Amino acid sequence: MRLTLEDIGYTYGEGTSFAVRALDGVTLSLDRGELVLVLGATGSGKSTLLRIAAGLMPPTEGRVAIDGNALDASRVGGRVGLVFQNPQTQLFAETVEADVEFGPRNLGMSEEEARGTVREALEAVDLDPDEFGPRSPFALSGGEAHRVAIAGVLAMRPEVLLFDEPTAGLDAWGRDAVTGIVASLRAHAGVVVVTHDAEGFLGMADHIVMLADGRPVFTGSREELLADPSCFEQAGLRVPDVLRTQILAEERGIRLGGYTLEVVEAADRMARGRGAGR
Ligand SMILES: Nc1ncnc2c1ncn2[C@@H]1O[C@H](COP(=O)(O)OP(=O)(O)OP(=O)(O)O)[C@@H](O)[C@H]1O
Ligand SMILES: [Mg+2]
Repeated sequence: MRLTLEDIGYTYGEGTSFAVRALDGVTLSLDRGELVLVLGATGSGKSTLLRIAAGLMPPTEGRVAIDGNALDASRVGGRVGLVFQNPQTQLFAETVEADVEFGPRNLGMSEEEARGTVREALEAVDLDPDEFGPRSPFALSGGEAHRVAIAGVLAMRPEVLLFDEPTAGLDAWGRDAVTGIVASLRAHAGVVVVTHDAEGFLGMADHIVMLADGRPVFTGSREELLADPSCFEQAGLRVPDVLRTQILAEERGIRLGGYTLEVVEAADRMARGRGAGR
């Protein structure tokens, strides 16, 4: 499986006086097992890009394809799964089980097969199916409801998973839980995460695209991004604390020999760099 978005452009209300250019010249590709991170400030076009990648709307310009075949929204049938921002607002059924089962049943899975995939999906998000399955989705904590909503998409066994701001509104533990879940999902699918919060996902990203006003200001690997962190500012994003600390240390004369995203490794390099400077 390979998802490709080629030279994507999108204009809301094209041809009207309300036209808004949301995306311009965005290209990315994703293979199974990979995680592509799309970073951008608010209004930079992230959600628009995901809706296009999910086949929910065709791009105004460019092509979206899976394994070389143009993405056809009517036949995408669960191959691409989109987890919306605040996905818990989409829960609707009487029980967690029924909610998670809705997608796979809708795709035509038998009751028995759907029941199996529901258990698997709940386990994948660290919720015990026997304990949580019979409960009402409206009597869960925010973090639990968020995980149930993710399970609802996983239950369709998509080959491509798209996450819109998956850690928004969660506390530090909730964020760690969700980043851990997202990391583990790469075993079965290609994953795209869009967020303005680089901190949680940068360490696991194979490929990064940074958007500013719908245009890519950086496309490349994590190593390439670490070699030139100035694009965070170009994209109107905060430099992650671990990087900012290293940049400030270098400005104070400590030689680091490159930046890292690992806090402990950063401290070690600073200690070594300080020793070398003496
Ligand atoms: N339905 C719409 N009609 C008109 N303009 C829209 C519509 N949806 C989004 N836009 C505009 O398109 C641009 C990109 O919006 P988008 O929602 O993709 O940004 P985003 O990066 O997801 O932002 P956020 O981080 O706030 O979620 C913005 O300028 C926005 O105002
Ligand atoms: Mg958005």
